[in-house]
Amino acid sequence: MSFDLVFFGGTGDLTWRKLMPALFQAFRHGKLPADGRILAVAREEQDDQRYRQWLGERLQRVEDAKRPSEQEFAQFAELVHYRRMDLSRPDDYSGLKAWLDERSADTAVLYLATSPHLFPQICEQLGAVGLNRPNVRVVLEKPLGHDLASAQRINRIVGSVFGEEQALRIDHYLGKPAVQNLMALRFGNALFEPLWRRDSIANIQITLAESIGVGSRGDFYDGTGALRDMIQNHALQLLTMVAMEPPSSHDADAIRDEKLKVLRSLKPFDEQSVLRDVVRGQYRKGMAEDGVVIGYLDEERVPPNSHCETFVALRTEVQNWRWAGVPFYLRTGKRLAERDAQIVVNFRPTPHSIFPGASQPNKLVIKLQPEDGLELHLLAAKGNVQGESLVPVSLDLDFDKAFAENRVGAYERLLLEAIAGRLNLFVRSDEQEQAWRWVEPILQTWQRSDGAAGGPRPYAAGTWGPAAASALVARDGFSWAEEQ
Ligand code: BG6
Repeated sequence: MSFDLVFFGGTGDLTWRKLMPALFQAFRHGKLPADGRILAVAREEQDDQRYRQWLGERLQRVEDAKRPSEQEFAQFAELVHYRRMDLSRPDDYSGLKAWLDERSADTAVLYLATSPHLFPQICEQLGAVGLNRPNVRVVLEKPLGHDLASAQRINRIVGSVFGEEQALRIDHYLGKPAVQNLMALRFGNALFEPLWRRDSIANIQITLAESIGVGSRGDFYDGTGALRDMIQNHALQLLTMVAMEPPSSHDADAIRDEKLKVLRSLKPFDEQSVLRDVVRGQYRKGMAEDGVVIGYLDEERVPPNSHCETFVALRTEVQNWRWAGVPFYLRTGKRLAERDAQIVVNFRPTPHSIFPGASQPNKLVIKLQPEDGLELHLLAAKGNVQGESLVPVSLDLDFDKAFAENRVGAYERLLLEAIAGRLNLFVRSDEQEQAWRWVEPILQTWQRSDGAAGGPRPYAAGTWGPAAASALVARDGFSWAEEQ
């Protein structure tokens, strides 16, 4: 199979930090189809040689195990080309088409790693020169829009040029091995399915915690915030995979139809429930792993009176027969106590205890990062004292260790899926719009309450966020995993 892969935004942060390193790994693992060309396009005037040199320097900055040897890089670099393009000039798109037409590759993947406000313009221009033919796919990086109306506008324009099966919307969490494992856990095993419902489950917690701050991305982040950056996409995608009904096949639309049903079943927010069930926070100076760190308002390129949230915790419900009444708590934040992404399924307690001491309900922890694994928390008797209390024990599976050889990173996986044209791991436009529809009342309520008294609650860097987040869960008689 032959392919051409074009990165718009070829000198941008995403291309350097994520896409090229991932592509190099795919190359190293022998997964990249042999007959391929990679083209970076950007505004700068330079030639293939200079771009390759630049790329070589960038690829030396990745972690040791992922760094290319001189020989490996020389082979990889031969696939890489550079082309100057001004994205507003129609002639430059004709030039791109001519480059692609130099040979007719089976597939052309056009990856838009640019600012999303350029997506409509780029897609229209691609359509105008006929680069929407059936063997072309376009990959759209998040964030896709900043609210429902802007997402719909982008989707409408992209959709007027490309068919739905040609437009691949990235949510890089879907490429993480642990997220794929969640599908395997639920639909490749019969064990949990009878328990996977309101009768056995007390609550579900999804935490995407980061220990880093916003760093040099202050200007982007301040216009975005944690709700748009992490909840509208990554956290909701995880929720759909936890809560969805078994799809009838592994087919992309069979899966995405079920995910969409979950999004449509989420309890809608109104102003009152936003104020009650959503907590927003902003980090202040505090202690992180590497010592004292500054607060959000002191970060580079952040306005001094910003109300941008760097933390969100919320409570929702999936209103259907399987889940009615079960709280789903979602939480994300920057500068939290740890980098830790996990889904915790808290089971109901036993109906009656015959052992002394407090009984502890079972818990299944699906760990996404930093480790990728599963923990099943049970109770056991040590067996040496009569009338003893039970002690907590856990079954611990470490997938990183078990499958070390075969693990591929999220972007590597997604790039390979895009080249192969498999859509399972990409988000359909209706899913994405439904997710915006659901978060929109939160955005609107915050905007209205942003006056003197409103705004996010402060929390010290290096903690688990504002105390109100614990109160949100405690109100239902529960606690977050780290407090249990
Ligand atoms: C991105 C967000 O989508 O995900 C970033 O824009 C965030 O703000 C990142 O840091 C987290 O991804 P990961 O894979 O490191 O959990």
